[in-house]
Amino acid sequence: MNKKHKKLAVLPGDGIGKEVVDEALKVMNAVADKRSLHIDLSFADVGGAALDKYHIPLPDETLQLCLESDAVLLGAVGGPNWESQPHHLKPERALLKLRQELGLFANVRPAKVYAPLIHASTLKAEVIRDIDLIVMRELTGGIYFGEPRGIRQNGKEKIGTNTLVYSSSEIERIARAAFDMAGKRRKKVTSVDKANVLDSMQLWRDVVCEVAKEYPDIELNHLYVDNCAMQLVRNPGQFDIILTGNMFGDILSDEAAMLTGSIGMLPSASLGKYTAMYEPVHGSAPDIAGKGIANPIATIASVAMMLKFSFDMPGEADAIEHAISAVLDDGYRTPDLMEQGKKRASTGEMGDLIVEALTQTLES
Ligand code: IPM
Ligand code: MG
Repeated sequence: MNKKHKKLAVLPGDGIGKEVVDEALKVMNAVADKRSLHIDLSFADVGGAALDKYHIPLPDETLQLCLESDAVLLGAVGGPNWESQPHHLKPERALLKLRQELGLFANVRPAKVYAPLIHASTLKAEVIRDIDLIVMRELTGGIYFGEPRGIRQNGKEKIGTNTLVYSSSEIERIARAAFDMAGKRRKKVTSVDKANVLDSMQLWRDVVCEVAKEYPDIELNHLYVDNCAMQLVRNPGQFDIILTGNMFGDILSDEAAMLTGSIGMLPSASLGKYTAMYEPVHGSAPDIAGKGIANPIATIASVAMMLKFSFDMPGEADAIEHAISAVLDDGYRTPDLMEQGKKRASTGEMGDLIVEALTQTLES
C-alpha cells in the first residue's frame, strides 16, 4: 500500500510544552506505525525558547517551516522569565503572529465531559453531564488586531486605544465555518455578540443572519455575550456550536473549558488559509514544568483533531479519544485530576497508557 506522507512542524515552546508534546508524539507515532502513514517531524523554537536564542518570539525559520508543513503541533508559550519584556517581545506575540501569518481565522475549541471525570468539575454533575459543545472563535480579527491601537500622550493624560473592527467578509467566513461544522453535529449554532451596544457587533449579527439563509437545516439563535457567560454555567447542555468573535471567544472558551473540570483535558484546532495549527488550550504552567506531573491529554487530543481535520483520518482520531476514555475508566489520573482511590500516573505514564490502549484498538 502507498504510504501517506505528512510533514509535521513541532513547536514545543515553553514550560510544560515540551513534556506534553513528547507524549502527543508517542501517540502520533503509534498511529503511524499501525497505519500507512509516514510522519516527517521538524522541530522549531517558538515563544520564550525562541526569545532566549534569537531575541524574537517567532523566528522567520519557524514561520517558514510552519508554512511548508501539512500541520503544526504547538505546546505552549510564556513564563515568568519573559514577563517584563516589552509588548512586541512577549512570547505570546508568537501565537498572534502565527495566527495572522498562517491565516488561522477559525479557532475550534471543543468542550466535552469525560464520564469518569464528571465529579472533577466545580459544577454539579447534573448540570454538566450533557456538555458537548464547540466554541468557534474568530481568531485573526476583532479587537486583537484592529487599528488604530496604542498608547499615546494627550496633554497630561495618557490614552490607550484598541479597535473592535470586523468586515462583513471576515464575519461571513467564520459563520460559514460554524454552520458547516454544526451540519456534522447537532445542527445548532448560537451566535454570541454585543449587538445591543456595539456597532461592529450589530454588523456581526446582520451578517450571521444573512449566511444562515444558506443553511436552512441549521437552527440559529443569538445571545449577548453577558447572557452567554451566564447560560454557560446555568445550562451548558443547550449549546452545540458557539460562534463568536476573537475576544469574546477568548473569554468564553476558558469558561467552557473549566466546566469540564480540568483545562488540562481540552484540545484546540486553528484552521484557515494555510497550514492548520493544533495545541492544548492550557498554557505553559511554568510552576509544574519539568516535574513529570503535567497532564498530556489535551495535547494528545489535539493530535486527534489533527488526524481528523488535516490528515483525513477520522477513524484514527476517534480511536485516540476512545483510548483516552479507556485509560480514565481504568482509574488512571495525572495529579491535576487525582481523586482518592485512583491510580496516579506521571506525564510519561499517561502517554504510555494511552498508546497501549490505542494500539489495542488499532490492531483489532
Ligand atoms: C488563548 C490565549 C491567547 C489569546 C494569549 C496567550 C495571546 O489566551 O489562546 O486563548 O488571548 O488568544
Ligand atoms: Mg485565552
